[in-house]
Amino acid sequence: MKRIGMLTSGGDCQALNATMRGIVKGVCNVYDEVELYGFEEGYKGLIYGNYRMLTGRDFSGILTKGGTILGSSRQAFKQMRVPDEKGLDKVEAMKQTYHKLRLDCLVILGGNGTQKTANLLREEGLNILHMPKTIDNDIYGTDMTFGFQSAVDIATNCIDCIHTTAASHGRVFIVEVMGHKVGQLTLHAGIAGGADIILIPEIPYDIDKICEAIDKRNKQKKGFTILAVAEGAIPKKRADMSKKELKEFMKTYPYPAVSYEIADEISRHTGTEVRVTVPGHTQRGGSPCPYDRVLSTRLGAAAAQAIVEEDYGYMIGIVNGETTRVPLEKSAGKLKFVDPDSSIIKEAKMIGISFGD
Ligand code: F6P
Repeated sequence: MKRIGMLTSGGDCQALNATMRGIVKGVCNVYDEVELYGFEEGYKGLIYGNYRMLTGRDFSGILTKGGTILGSSRQAFKQMRVPDEKGLDKVEAMKQTYHKLRLDCLVILGGNGTQKTANLLREEGLNILHMPKTIDNDIYGTDMTFGFQSAVDIATNCIDCIHTTAASHGRVFIVEVMGHKVGQLTLHAGIAGGADIILIPEIPYDIDKICEAIDKRNKQKKGFTILAVAEGAIPKKRADMSKKELKEFMKTYPYPAVSYEIADEISRHTGTEVRVTVPGHTQRGGSPCPYDRVLSTRLGAAAAQAIVEEDYGYMIGIVNGETTRVPLEKSAGKLKFVDPDSSIIKEAKMIGISFGD
């Protein structure tokens, strides 16, 4: 008999359901008796004891279903040690729920913030496995997160669609891609969609360089320019600001997002018409792509194997094509940034893509 708790926390993405399906299929394949506890809306469900008893059947037919059948919510790691409005100690409450249900383990699907809390619960003595979810692919210790490739498909499709209209109108177009701190998604969608300029947080931009790249294309009679811009792209002039200075600066920031600032500056410098397109949360929506279905099924099965072996305290990741158990303490709290000196950046520059640096 196994008693397994599961929750999905943070922003949703494609393949959350596919991953849970992989875990449940794997475990049910080994044990005749399995009790599955699905906590609702992420850590909230664990804190307040809101859960549903599930069976293997609940996980049938969800391989292709986006979102999460458990629901999700953002519960900031920083707030975990802060009592709720009624004075409830959240960490103690989560431990109590776990022990009351006599769980053998808790499988937590989520991104960086979620992982930090997962590690905290491990430190508190719970048997934890973490599954790396995020369209940002920014979790340290795994080559890939599920959701990323599906989001690359959507953001790329957006750039593809913009391409045809940009070519017709001879305009400059900006497609703003998700990713506040890390530019993996923008980089990949930008290359896949044939963007001319890619701006990511790891490579602060200079607006003059961007305008030079646009001018160069105009001189070559290309007729239009497409920029793939990460939500977290930052100009060189603000890159050295401290967190406090930046917070102060943002209080009077006149634009809804950095893309609009870039658009404004490009039209002032070059006199060209600029349009901004923001695919936003569509990037996290819909069905997982085949790559993500395979990845999440493999990660789910690898988690099931760890449960069978009662080997806990890990993120189940993938490195060099092989699933692997990454100690949570080695991964939690670290981000996997784009290395500005990596070959993918050099190759992109080699074919003429500008990073505005
Ligand atoms: O971390 C995933 C992510 O989709 C980021 O790329 C994005 O910046 C953020 O979540 C958006 O969060 P929310 O859904 O809370 O607006």
